[in-house]
Amino acid sequence: MPPSESPHAATVPPVEIVEATVPAVLDTPDAWPLHGVAAVSRACALENHGHANLAIDAAGARATMLTPAYRQVRRLVAVAPGARTADAVVGHAMVLLPQVGNVHTARVIVEVHPEHRRQGIGRALAEAVVDVARASGRRLLLTDVTYSPEPAPGPGTIEPPTGPGSVPLDHDSTRFAIAQGLRLVQVARHSVLDLPVPHETLGGLHDRAVEAAGSDYRVHVWHLDIPPEHLDSVATLKTRISTDMPSGDIVVEEDPWDAARVLATAVDLRERGQGRVLVAAEHVTSRSLVAYSEVVFPVDDPAVVFQCDTLVLREHRGRRLGMLVKTSLMAEVARARPDAERVHTWNAAENAQMLAINDALGFRSTSIEARWSRDL
Ligand SMILES: CC(C)(COP(=O)(O)OP(=O)(O)OC[C@H]1O[C@@H](n2cnc3c(N)ncnc32)[C@H](O)[C@@H]1OP(=O)(O)O)[C@@H](O)C(=O)NCCC(=O)NCCS
Repeated sequence: MPPSESPHAATVPPVEIVEATVPAVLDTPDAWPLHGVAAVSRACALENHGHANLAIDAAGARATMLTPAYRQVRRLVAVAPGARTADAVVGHAMVLLPQVGNVHTARVIVEVHPEHRRQGIGRALAEAVVDVARASGRRLLLTDVTYSPEPAPGPGTIEPPTGPGSVPLDHDSTRFAIAQGLRLVQVARHSVLDLPVPHETLGGLHDRAVEAAGSDYRVHVWHLDIPPEHLDSVATLKTRISTDMPSGDIVVEEDPWDAARVLATAVDLRERGQGRVLVAAEHVTSRSLVAYSEVVFPVDDPAVVFQCDTLVLREHRGRRLGMLVKTSLMAEVARARPDAERVHTWNAAENAQMLAINDALGFRSTSIEARWSRDL
């Protein structure tokens, strides 16, 4: 199937915006948009971080578009008018449309290859993205922007209204975001933990957490498959984290999970070539899960691991359960991914408890990710 011509023709020559369709495989000519996405993503990641760990490749871009039951992902590329090759792609955009929970939002990415900036390509992509979001009935646009290194606070920076952190004013992304009518909502810290964590550090933190938790809790370590009797309980934790994470002044609705969604997510991860470790703490008396922490990793890239959610239900906080699940998780990562070199994580700058746990484990701040938003 050829990529469909999108109705979002750029208003600013000389680019044309084309929407990618999902190719059956990646080595056919119709997969060109996704190879173009990968090339631009890689160039932007190298510019920001000096490495491509955080870039999306063509397989990853395709995989995100395959399972639209819970979230639909649409991808747009900017090319010279009439061009239909990966080499001609100078910018890309992604629009993620949640299908359950927060269906009023669209999460977007707009990236222009560093060699093609300031020619109106970003604006053309941003306009197309707004069209897609509006046509899907979305009222709130959210986008996360990386800044590396983190700027020193003070003159020349702007701060979000409700929390700590700042972003540089004199920066392509900031100028662009302001020009697009976006406002800064929240600043998150992107940190990296070099692996392996020294045995004494991990062991010491783990032992203290075990002692504080006492005999009221039992730890479970799972990979992609979660035992059927725990699926509902994992779904409860996943639902709770959607509203328990700090979200600045953005109103976040509950994102409802059930056992079917937990199962579908594992299938999705497997199909995308991703592995996972999920560690949960069970409250022995009530037999329900009350805390968890989770990482995912590309099975074919042994060096890198991505930290996802960590949550302790409010009623069980203050007993070092966050540290318990996190240290158990890192021990399992060391066992299951012995060649892993680093774990990436992102935490809201105001999330002091989570940052304290990460600092104790040895995470170091490398860049920041700022969340911008705009009403549609
Ligand atoms: C931000 C980004 C997408 C801009 O792409 P671009 O093609 O260079 O942007 P455009 O040429 O369409 O610029 C549109 C407007 O943004 C503003 N702008 C963009 N870059 C700017 C800069 N370096 N200085 C001042 N204003 C700037 C201007 O108002 C510009 O309009 P103008 O050229 O008529 O003055 C690009 O720098 C990028 O990919 N950065 C990394 C990812 C990112 O930050 N994405 C944006 C998320 S909000």
